[in-house]
Amino acid sequence: MQRKFIEIKEKIGQFNKEIVVDGDKSLSIRWALISSQALGVSRAKNLLKSDDVKDAIRCLKKLGVKILNSKDNCYIYGRGINGFKFKKNIVLNAGNSGTLGRLILALLIKSPYKIKITGDKSLSKRDFSRVIEPLKKIGVNFYPKNKDKLPIFIKGSEFLRPINYLENRGSAQCKSCIMLASLNTPGQTIIKAKKSRDHTEILFKSLNLPIKLIKGNDFDLIKLSQPKKIQKIDFNIPGDISSAAFFIVLTILSKKSTLLLKNININSSRMGIIKILNRMGAKIKLRNIKILNGERCSDIFVKNTKNLKGIKCPTKLNSSAIDEFLVIFLVAAKAKGVSYFNNLSELNQKESPRLKLAAKILKSMGVKIKSTEKSITIFGNPDLILKKKFNIKNYFKDHRIMMMAVISALSLGGSWRIFDPESVKTSFPSFLKIIKNLGGKVK
Ligand code: S3P
Repeated sequence: MQRKFIEIKEKIGQFNKEIVVDGDKSLSIRWALISSQALGVSRAKNLLKSDDVKDAIRCLKKLGVKILNSKDNCYIYGRGINGFKFKKNIVLNAGNSGTLGRLILALLIKSPYKIKITGDKSLSKRDFSRVIEPLKKIGVNFYPKNKDKLPIFIKGSEFLRPINYLENRGSAQCKSCIMLASLNTPGQTIIKAKKSRDHTEILFKSLNLPIKLIKGNDFDLIKLSQPKKIQKIDFNIPGDISSAAFFIVLTILSKKSTLLLKNININSSRMGIIKILNRMGAKIKLRNIKILNGERCSDIFVKNTKNLKGIKCPTKLNSSAIDEFLVIFLVAAKAKGVSYFNNLSELNQKESPRLKLAAKILKSMGVKIKSTEKSITIFGNPDLILKKKFNIKNYFKDHRIMMMAVISALSLGGSWRIFDPESVKTSFPSFLKIIKNLGGKVK
């Protein structure tokens, strides 16, 4: 039975523990999509078992891909590049996932039939023109014409041409979509992309696909040619730093507590949260660094920090912390001095208008803030303690808003009722179990 809400009425006590968080969402979805194009059986250990990844598996099965699960592993029987086998009139539901919805389009650009792509209420409000427009330039057809949101129909073409694509939002989803499209596009696809997470580049390289990467300061140049085939992929998926972030912040804000988070992906394009929090006075340490499948991973050790200070956050770090700002704002609320975050309009393009919702929640907590469409100033207060009642509802079931509320309740106090707790299953199904294991009282 789905619970309507959970309640938290007490701060969490001191904890000194070791935890493992669920597998990385970006890597899990990328592994599944690319494995479907490989030849042979690919295996992933620790694949994230969240709704977003389940939706990816469901879509691939509808496209004729055989996928099996054992207790620890997921196996995908790849059908080769453009090897999908499916009937007319299929509907692919990307659920809540922007990554799935946007990336899967790239695998359908030769489809002889129209395929309908749908999503949930939140995804249907999000912008798809950012991938539709460059795909149209490659020669892909979309119906109805000029529609920029789901539901939408995609129909492929036999006559695809490579494009020169400028990705200047810093969106890894847009960049990855065109990178995946290059698997089916003859000639050379060239992408100039503002820095963003580079998991797709790393995967392409580790698979020896024809990719040339020229790294710049703010932009990278990516040159891709169509590969003949893709070999199967064995992947050990590390923990997701975007999930770890909630526990890192809980620990920083919880008296005398320490936490060791095991085997987290610390790809440098995802390290914004560590860099920002350390600049704010936290002492987060990386231990036992290793490279797995081309991805840097480590244990993360964090402890409660008394003297947090405000930050003027360098906008250069935005894309590497894009999914973590909600909890970074909580640290800013508890820090001494003023914090300022700018150029964050992309936050309002996520599963909910996150910058707006975060501003609203912080205000309701009595935190002094100033916000615009793209920035937020937070006037921190190290003595911040909450005593009021809070009702968190109507937040578009955004998993990260839900987790932000839980961390606020456990670290700052107050009496909280958080609706739609199932929303957490989008990215982090073990979240509440780990909270309880650390001693958090959630009813
Ligand atoms: C993701 C990229 C980011 C991020 C999302 C996952 C990815 O989105 O917010 O949660 O896996 O490529 P954008 O590319 O829209 O910034």
